[in-house]
Amino acid sequence: MCFIKPLVAAIGLCASSLIFANTQISVDTATSGPIINKNIYGQFTEHLGRGIYEGLWVGEDSKIPNTRGWRNDVIGALKEIRVPLVRWPGGCFADEYHWREGIGPRDKRPVRVNTNWGGVLEDNAVGTHEFFDLVEILGAEAYVNGNLGTGTAQEMADWMEYMTSESKSTLAELRRKNGRDKPFRVHYFAIGNESWGCGGNMTPEFYTHLYKQYASFLKTPKDNTPILIASGGHTDDTSWADHLTANVKPNWALRMEAVSFHYYTLPTGDWKVKGAALGFPEAEWMSTMVNTLKMDQFIINNKKVMDKNDPEKKVGFYVDEWGTWYDVTGDDDPGFLYQQNSLRDAIVAALNFNIFHKHADRVHMSIIAQMVNVLQAMILTDKEKMILTPTYHVFKMYVPFQDATSLPLELKDVPQYTLGKASVPAVSATAARAKDGKIYLALVNANPHKAETVDINLAGVKINAVQGQVLTASAMDAHNTFAAPNNIQPKTYTANAKSGKLTLELPAKSVLVVAVN
Ligand code: AHR
Repeated sequence: MCFIKPLVAAIGLCASSLIFANTQISVDTATSGPIINKNIYGQFTEHLGRGIYEGLWVGEDSKIPNTRGWRNDVIGALKEIRVPLVRWPGGCFADEYHWREGIGPRDKRPVRVNTNWGGVLEDNAVGTHEFFDLVEILGAEAYVNGNLGTGTAQEMADWMEYMTSESKSTLAELRRKNGRDKPFRVHYFAIGNESWGCGGNMTPEFYTHLYKQYASFLKTPKDNTPILIASGGHTDDTSWADHLTANVKPNWALRMEAVSFHYYTLPTGDWKVKGAALGFPEAEWMSTMVNTLKMDQFIINNKKVMDKNDPEKKVGFYVDEWGTWYDVTGDDDPGFLYQQNSLRDAIVAALNFNIFHKHADRVHMSIIAQMVNVLQAMILTDKEKMILTPTYHVFKMYVPFQDATSLPLELKDVPQYTLGKASVPAVSATAARAKDGKIYLALVNANPHKAETVDINLAGVKINAVQGQVLTASAMDAHNTFAAPNNIQPKTYTANAKSGKLTLELPAKSVLVVAVN
């Protein structure tokens, strides 16, 4: 029984499976929860460090094999994780981006200073046409982030017309002259980014007025109308979601289909000394778990204010920046936000997915920051070399959850993982019926020392066996390098039910995704 666990631990007994109750997971297979929108697996690429230039774009003349400038190795790997959408061009960069500088012949495009990220020169080689080429190659949807901070309502309206108009207007003809006859399909469009900070240091009240003004002039053909996203709050601040949903009352001319939200996981929680990506002490493994799990409460708080103002749940809550953020090390430019990615990041990714699935009624999109070479990346590159990170592997393992129907579940007798005064539930889980008709389970064990035994009960469903993959390693900071690219990779996992009962062994510090047969 649970209450004897501390006592048993105190007297040093370790035959846990004999004495401790197993974690119990009961899945209600008869009730369909909300759809887990595939956009929960969204990606972000900003003009930042080596995220776009080198990481994705090498140019047509590069020796690195590419398709119209986009590197083939990276694109091939991204296709495997079925990237549903890509957000571009920022981030903070978006509020200083002037779209006209990124069209036309590349050698004629102006060169600017990237004032947000390292002060490097930005030659605008990747602009609107190149971005849409990328999303079309990936088979993804486009999320364009507009410039509210230093642009005008006219500039934003013109960009929208340039991208979407089928007419013979001067802007649509300019797009054709630049090589694109058909309009680009803009699925999502955001009006500003982090308007509380790098996007203009505004208050929610001031931003809300501007949102209404800018949104009123974004006119598009009926079959190419993007979902409009308002720039929302961050961390524990609910005032943006509250003020926006209370005050933007959509009418025939004004829309607001979503409010964004950003939250980054810092091991220390301190922006001045965030913590290291590798070689960290267990205390920072623990604090990373504690901090990342705060996402749940932040979403609950925002949903509460949104439910008050928008009880019909018409407005989505888009967590369009999340992930780990560590101190930059070595010779890396601090403005490039390049960081290694370890098993700890994989656990963070899976814990956040399980949280987003739980809130799938409101959270219709989440976008990890960022896709390649920046923050919690899927892929790291070094010139012509490429490695897949543990986070990439988790995205791949979770592919069956894209557009799956969530299934309510209950966890009981979950042990705590405790270190000093800090404590988190060791086991996290999610379940869904995927588009292939199968039930999938994803489980996370946040305890770096102790395996957990989990009894699975799928009410009304006879389980014969489960098959899938597990990601784990012996070191907390296990990671892939250019010299050892397959150091940490998922392994095949199978388990058979005995007398109709399924019990899973969840290794210490692991992510497990299985299909039920
Ligand atoms: O993802 C890096 C930066 O983090 C983005 O540009 C900004 O929106 C956030 O502060």
